[in-house]
This record gives sequence, structure tokens and C-alpha cells, in this order.
Amino acid sequence: MTIVAVAVSACCGKVVEKVNLVPYPQEVTIENGSFDAAGATVRYSADADSLTVALAERLASQLTLATGEQSVVKKGRGFGINLVLDRSLAEEEYRLHVGCCRVVIKASSLRGFNWGVQTLKQLMPVQIYGDTTAEGINWAVPCCTISDAPRFGYRGLLIDEARHFFGMEAIKDVLDVMEIHKLNTLHWHLTEDQGWRIEIKKYPLLTEVGSIRKETLVGHLRRSNEYDGTPYGEGMWYSQDQISEIVDYAAARGINIIPEIDLPGHMQAALTAYPYLGCTGGPYEVWTKWGVSEDVLCIGKETTMQFVKDVLAEICDMFPSEYIHIGGDECPKVKWAECPHCQAKIKELGITGDDKHSPEHFLQSYMTAEAEKFLAERGRRLIGWDEILEGELAPNATVMSWRGTKGGEAAVKLGHDVIMTPYQYLYIDYYQSKDQANEPLAIGGYIPVERCYSFEPFTEEMTDEDKAHIIGVQANLWTEYIGTQDYLEYMLLPRLSALSEVQWCAPENKIWDRYLDSIDEVLNIYETAGYNYAKHILDVQKAANEQKNNQ
Ligand code: ACM
Ligand code: ZN
Repeated sequence: MTIVAVAVSACCGKVVEKVNLVPYPQEVTIENGSFDAAGATVRYSADADSLTVALAERLASQLTLATGEQSVVKKGRGFGINLVLDRSLAEEEYRLHVGCCRVVIKASSLRGFNWGVQTLKQLMPVQIYGDTTAEGINWAVPCCTISDAPRFGYRGLLIDEARHFFGMEAIKDVLDVMEIHKLNTLHWHLTEDQGWRIEIKKYPLLTEVGSIRKETLVGHLRRSNEYDGTPYGEGMWYSQDQISEIVDYAAARGINIIPEIDLPGHMQAALTAYPYLGCTGGPYEVWTKWGVSEDVLCIGKETTMQFVKDVLAEICDMFPSEYIHIGGDECPKVKWAECPHCQAKIKELGITGDDKHSPEHFLQSYMTAEAEKFLAERGRRLIGWDEILEGELAPNATVMSWRGTKGGEAAVKLGHDVIMTPYQYLYIDYYQSKDQANEPLAIGGYIPVERCYSFEPFTEEMTDEDKAHIIGVQANLWTEYIGTQDYLEYMLLPRLSALSEVQWCAPENKIWDRYLDSIDEVLNIYETAGYNYAKHILDVQKAANEQKNNQ
């Protein structure tokens, strides 16, 4: 980490010796003086693209609202905040210089500009995150020079909207807080045993029937047999127009959305809508409890393979993402072992299995390879959970390693790209406190902020060539036990901020004590922006401070 205090910046009489930024940039030099952001003009280069112009407009309106002084947007350089195109910089790289009269953010495209803007906003008084005009604030921003770029090109967060549904405004709020911490990928989990939540025009019953479960388990799967007797899911799905609105909203923030259609397991809601897709033909019901259903897609039937392709075709039309996620996790093979269609397909394909995997594992590999071929024809790339390693890995698949890091290690050694999301560190549906009796019900486990923060995606088993295939890191927020937006945010924040340093900071820049020192400011951002967040980390900070004072 480079923090160079060339001189100490004096903002509104306050002496600035450090800046609180999360994720922390590569290089920071604090300089003398300050820039007054109130009423600052926001400027963009003549050759800026429309997304960058829109970013300038968004920043100007946030400044106008928060400071109460009109910020206007202008083309060309001058006093104020300048977004200057510099094609020599890498896609997400940016340079930020805050001088007394002007701020210059250099980048080569929207993402770099937006990460520069996010850093600039974190340097401003926290009221910039509010939705009212703040009275009596000195809008001095400390002069500094920052050079920055991320460690990983893929910085993801999974939100499960299938078990519980949160809707348009909630997902926009998630995208807004992802932007603050410079995440660039929302992995959107939209189909499950317990609900199908995205419109597919060729199969309307997926949402008409598959979005509604007749009731929901009360309490924890391991301890309860009680159901609430209340239907859940009526109208809880996204139309294709709504998807398009969210995709655009994310793109304006430099965030790509990867949709997940979880195949061939976790499909009971789809089977309920179209029972012929299953091995037995049903009847099925949208699942009312959590866990892993044994009823999965019947791979032996041509109609099922057509269904998979039809759904993926509409998904490709809705999402510009190069990557499409096809799930592949937790697919029991018991129904396939007894199904005449699946067994006939195994024979037809000449599948025999091997000493590690049954013929049915290879049947899943066949389906994954078909899906990959179909996506590749449309210029897309397939991502699957690490179970897709069982049997035969599809030739160009990217693997999401969730059952630890071993799957990721195996995949990089086969030359495949990997995203690390091990449940032991990054399943943020787990408890944040050991005092579970005083927490809202969660799935289990214990992953405090410090545990998230400590994750290192490179392992000792990896060569440099292997490491080059680790394209990123992601945390997953599954929602079996999370029914409200408030609880969703509580589980997300501030663990998202810790995740962002794992994703963004070079190892020498990822320093727990420095992060901990900034946590009050981070929580202040959430408070001002109206998010619900967990405060357990403050106990950790108190303990750390006490330890420091006692030394
Ligand atoms: C998963 O947690 N089943 C990917
Ligand atoms: Zn079958």
C-alpha cells in the first residue's frame, strides 16, 4: 500500500492525515488544500460515450441535491470535476487528481470513470449519499492524487430472488451499494425449486404456475415440520420489460448482470408448470420447504433439451452478458437411474461411467456440454457451479468454486477460468454473530466480517499459470431464511465492504487494521443512504481499540 502524505491537507480547518476509502486504492498521495464540491460543474470529454455523459449528469444531480447549490454538466475541460478520456488506461483503471480548482478523473471507459467517481464521493462529506439537502456542511474535498485498478476483473455478488423475492426497488438498492464498493457483477439467481421468477414467453406457465408455492416452511429445515399455510409468490416475478430496465440500470453503473437458470436440478417449480419435463411426469408442486429436491429435469427426453435451449435463447435476448450461468449444482441422480428415457439416452450416447463417476454424472455432463454449445453459437460463455467438474467438464466452461477451493484448483489445472466463492468464507447467508439466539433465523454457520475479509483466492497448490485463471471472487446471498429487504441488507452490509477489498485490493493493500479504522465511515454511508446494516463489527473494532490502548 502506498500512502504518501506529501503535506497535510487542511480542509475546513480540519487536518486530513488519512482518507477512508473502501475498497482502498492502489496508491494514494494526500496533498495540501481542498476542493469545494458545492456547485461544482461536472465536465466530460468531447469524445465521451453516452454512458459517461449520463454518469456526469447523475453526479451533478447528486451534488445539486446534497449541497443545495446547482451543479451543471458541460462538455470540455475547465474548473470543476473533469471526466477525461484516456485510452491508455485499462478498462477499470482510473486516475483521480483532486486539486484546489479542479478535479480530474482519467479513465478509458464508463467503469473506470465510475470507480473514480465512487472514490471521489467517498472523499466527500457523507451527506453526498443522502436524499435531502444537507444544511451547514463544508463541501471541502481533500486534495490528493490516486492511481487505482482492481486486482480481479470479476467482482461478483449473488442475490437469490427465487426462494424469496424482493422486487425492482430492492434490486436497484443492491446495485447502488455494489457500485459504492466497485463490484462489477450481479449474479442473479432467478429460478429454484421454490419459485420461478423470470418471464419466458414461450413457457408462460413457468411464472403463472411456477412462481407460487402454496405455503412455506416455518422455522429451520432441520428443526421444523410446520408450514405457514399462506401462498407465496403471486406476481413475484420479473417481466422481460422489467429485466431490461434492471439490466440498463446496472449497465449505467458499470455492473454486468449474469442470470442463472439452475439446470438440471433445482427445477421443481418448472416441473410443476410443465410436468412432462420430469422423469416421472409428476404431478409436482412448487416446493414449500428448503433443501435439494430429487425431482429434476429428465435429460432423456428431447422435449426437455428443447426446453433448455428455448429458455436459454430468451435469456440471451434479455441479457447482453457474455457469461450465462446454468447452475449445475446439487442435482440428485436417483430419478435418472430409474427413468427409461434417461437410461435410453445413456445407452444411445454410449456412456459407461468411470471409477469416480456414475453414467448419470456423465449424463449431466452431456446436458451441460449441449447448453455450452448452444450458448457458444450465440457468442456467450457458460458458467456452472463446481459440480460440473463431475463426469466431464464442458470444454470452455468457467467454474464457480463454492464447495471450498478444491474445485477451483482442479478446474484451473485443467486450464479453465474460475471464480472463487467458497461457502466457508463467502456465504453471507450465514450468521454474523455467535450469539445466534439473538439473531434473526439464518441457515447456520458463522461468517463474521473478519472471516470474509480474510479470504485469499490463490492457494499454495497453484502455479502462476493457474493463478491467471482465477478471474475473480464472489459472495453469495441465498435467501431461504431471508424474507424481507431489511433482512437482506442486514446480511449484506457491511460484509459486502469486506468482500470488496478481497476483490479489489492487491494483497499488500488489503490490511485489516486499516479497513477496520475506516468502518465507522462505511457504516455512516449506509446510514445516510438508508440501508439496514449489521453492527457486530463495531464490537470487533472496540476490542481492537482496547487492545491498542493497552499496548
Ligand atoms: C450452492 O450453494 N448450491 C451453489
Ligand atoms: Zn429421465
